[in-house]
Amino acid sequence: MVYITRRITFSAAHRLFNPTLTDSENELIYDKCNNINYHGHNYHLEVTVKGIPNPKTGYLIDLKLLKKIIHDEIFMHVDHKNLNLDVPFLTGVITSVENLIAIFWDILKDKLPSGELHKIKIWETENNMVEYFGESFEIPRYE
Ligand code: NI
Repeated sequence: MVYITRRITFSAAHRLFNPTLTDSENELIYDKCNNINYHGHNYHLEVTVKGIPNPKTGYLIDLKLLKKIIHDEIFMHVDHKNLNLDVPFLTGVITSVENLIAIFWDILKDKLPSGELHKIKIWETENNMVEYFGESFEIPRYE
């Protein structure tokens, strides 16, 4: 089994808040990330595909195709966007990196021409990273 990873970077703004909580509860939970005028991150997204290389090509997945899929399905929708306001597939979602990664997984999992989605990793800051292997959970949508 081979694991191959494509990495991209995107920049986006967001704000963490739950509209069912009071302003002071939101401030207590999310602190600076609750800033009403949003704040930004340079996100690093890594998508890992697993499988056996095709004996004819030696490729598990053509990285040009993987690059295009990630670009078309994720990057175009989130880069230089406000994740709370501009991204239809995030409507009503608390834009934590934990929720983002699971939604990205659902978007990508059936789009691969070969191999199988194995892992997604997102670095939100230099020191904070989340990984996801597709064990699904309910993501509430508010509003
Ligand atoms: Ni943030």
